[in-house]
Amino acid sequence: MTLTRRKTLALIGGGVVLAAAAAGGGFFSTRTPVRALAPWQMAGRYADARLRALSWALLAPNPHNRQPWVAELAGADQVIIHRDRTRNLPATDPFDRQLTIGMGCFLELMTMAAAEEGLAVTLTLFPEGEDGPVAQARFADGGAPDPLFAHALQRRSCKEPYAERPVPDAAAAALSAHARILRDPELVAALRALTWAAFEVEYRTPATLQESIDLMRFGRAEIEANPDGIELGGPFLEALMLAGVINRAAQADPDSMAFKTGLDIYSRMLAATPAYAVIATAGNSREDQIEAGRQWLRLNLAATQLGLAVQPVSQALQEFPEMAEHYAAAHALLARDGETLQMLGRLGYGPATGPSPRWPLETRLIDA
Ligand SMILES: Cc1cc2nc3c(=O)[nH]c(=O)nc-3n(C[C@H](O)[C@H](O)[C@H](O)COP(=O)(O)O)c2cc1C
Repeated sequence: MTLTRRKTLALIGGGVVLAAAAAGGGFFSTRTPVRALAPWQMAGRYADARLRALSWALLAPNPHNRQPWVAELAGADQVIIHRDRTRNLPATDPFDRQLTIGMGCFLELMTMAAAEEGLAVTLTLFPEGEDGPVAQARFADGGAPDPLFAHALQRRSCKEPYAERPVPDAAAAALSAHARILRDPELVAALRALTWAAFEVEYRTPATLQESIDLMRFGRAEIEANPDGIELGGPFLEALMLAGVINRAAQADPDSMAFKTGLDIYSRMLAATPAYAVIATAGNSREDQIEAGRQWLRLNLAATQLGLAVQPVSQALQEFPEMAEHYAAAHALLARDGETLQMLGRLGYGPATGPSPRWPLETRLIDA
């Protein structure tokens, strides 16, 4: 991982705290969760072509970094991909819509990785219906490499304030292949206000806040033990943990400094947004959700290629009752003719950030 002067960490709602960390030094290197980041080095380093494709796929973006995917090799040329329902997010994602989008990101990256080595993947989605596997994938010769794949290792969800610099016309036009790009100043202002209001609802609703807190990994040892969820790491934060300023109880206490700081940092981050990307679908079937995920992955890679950053800001699209007003406002503002909004993301020029933890491929495989 690149050592930067500023260490980012996800705090809540997939959110971010920027902490001024001492640059370099032994303490920093000893706080890096080396094992949790190892899958970024293992991508493509397996003997079986299907495992190679899967080792890339697990680097895909996914809600709260739950990594709900499980794969089963079948015969000589197939993979059955399941969604691990023990990794559901019942409070923020009651209908598993976002988790399904994450599975779409996974399938797209797997397909692109296979194409890179001359393999075409034929996907049969939900072959046994919605309650069965997410996809049956058949690998065969073919597949055209896609230039976007070159950016898979640099792709991030960039949870930082973005520069005021506008997104240029040419970049917006290129990204329009994958999402609607919104740059109109009035609309951008309305979306800044909406994403902040929606974030506050998620943060101040005990059940949704607690869901995030339960997924927080406090410090290197917890991140290494469970390389998923919302990681809070680095020397600065670990020092605050040692001092008792940051801990599970403080995150849940609206009167604590940790709670208030989280809100403050998130509000500044959301305000520092020059543009947005939206993916909407005419229907809202599981197949639509998978397709939205495939498009989001491509958008994320295309933005990376252009030196731009994206971050999903999903709160206003969430379907828990307390969010209903903002869900309706988001749809009134952005959906056309009864569409469902599947992804809303910030877009702009952001700082370079490090990769997020992943479970190793070996832990995501089940026997046929
Ligand atoms: C459907 C979906 C919804 C997401 N919603 C949010 C969100 O609301 N806020 C956020 O900061 N990140 C969100 N993310 C990004 C994840 O937090 C991120 O993908 C995950 O932590 C892994 O990090 P990476 O994308 O940098 O590899 C979302 C991702 C997906 C696929």
